Amino acid sequence: MKTIKKTKQFEQYFNDLKQLLKYSYVPYSKFKTAAIVATDLGNFKGVNVENASFPLTNCAERSAIFAAVSNGAKKFKELYLISSSERDDITPCGACRQVLAEFMESNSPIYVFNIKGNLCKYTLGELLPQSFKQKQLFNK
Ligand code: THU
Repeated sequence: MKTIKKTKQFEQYFNDLKQLLKYSYVPYSKFKTAAIVATDLGNFKGVNVENASFPLTNCAERSAIFAAVSNGAKKFKELYLISSSERDDITPCGACRQVLAEFMESNSPIYVFNIKGNLCKYTLGELLPQSFKQKQLFNK
């Protein structure tokens, strides 16, 4: 993990993510998240969507990835995440890491903002070494 300085490009993502947070549906946790994934077809957005049946909740990262796949994206460059928290140690949950690993490389950047704009950079490989891969479904 690296704390990095925000350049103009990051400033834009931070502003877009903050705007997106207003669509987050969190009547239960009140913990808002929003994600943007940059792909070969442009940027796709997602927010967390909770449900009265708690385990059916979808995280922002998976919402963004599924939106991108649903719209035909094939290459996934990087993911940007924000939460409503002031903490600097928020990272994607385990389920999202495995979903990200289906579409991104281990050196793909994952950028995480807190609500004040502090920015941390991770790689997917740092967050989930030894992810389960498609090829492991087969004997050879
Ligand atoms: N959440 C995310 O959207 N992404 C994560 O990586 C961690 C958790 C959401 C799910 C739920 O709506 C709320 O945060 C509290 O767990």
